Amino acid sequence: MSRKPFIAGNWKMNMTAASGAKLIAELAPLVKDADCDVALCVPAILIPEMTKAAKGTNIAIGAENVHWADKGAFTGEISAEMLKEYGVKYAIIGHSERRQYFGETDEGVNKRTLAALKNGITPIVCVGETLEERENGLTEKVIARQLEFGLKDVDDIKKVVIAYEPVWAIGTGKTATDEQAQETIAFIRKKIGELFCPMCAQSVIIQYGGSMNAANCKGLMAQPDIDGGLIGGASLKLDFAQIVNYNK
Ligand code: PGA
Repeated sequence: MSRKPFIAGNWKMNMTAASGAKLIAELAPLVKDADCDVALCVPAILIPEMTKAAKGTNIAIGAENVHWADKGAFTGEISAEMLKEYGVKYAIIGHSERRQYFGETDEGVNKRTLAALKNGITPIVCVGETLEERENGLTEKVIARQLEFGLKDVDDIKKVVIAYEPVWAIGTGKTATDEQAQETIAFIRKKIGELFCPMCAQSVIIQYGGSMNAANCKGLMAQPDIDGGLIGGASLKLDFAQIVNYNK
């Protein structure tokens, strides 16, 4: 079954309205003929300006998180409805930095994922093991738990993008080898098959994330189960276009 590759950037807490708009203007002509879907997930406050900057291009704008409630007393949070108003197409959910520094749990990931889906926003659900978990042979156990609880009650799994991001590879310059990434992503696909259905597992887009860059993207993208990338550091510069054009 053919899956359309999907390369997304994750700006994290970087860029300003001015530098972000400038980068999008420079990236747009470089990525316009991409064969894959392209998105930039940006800080919430930049969404209105980046949506304007990306208008008429093939770059979709995404958010870096989304709250689960429709509205209410949740100081500092942003609802899916608010994101939708600005044409946001994607929301990263359960990024390891959210889990590590902001106490996000699989249960919260699940509620956020369901809220995004309810509002027509594609969740990019992040899963991945720490170095300690990998060294203790717990990679599959941890990821199976993140998938089982994070994706509970999802009706149509094909509407979810999964990003496999080994925590030890994020922002460290230590990429998983092509084989390590492929092996774990194949496991994720198998697990999705068990939790949902084997056929739908073949349709789900699964990205790799963690120090993916212009030099290593080709090898990763050549793996049979890797359908794309979630790119942090390299999405802050024109290298992002080289990753998007990995097949050219
Ligand atoms: P990195 O970040 O590419 O800078 O390692 C990836 C991510 O955290 O999504």
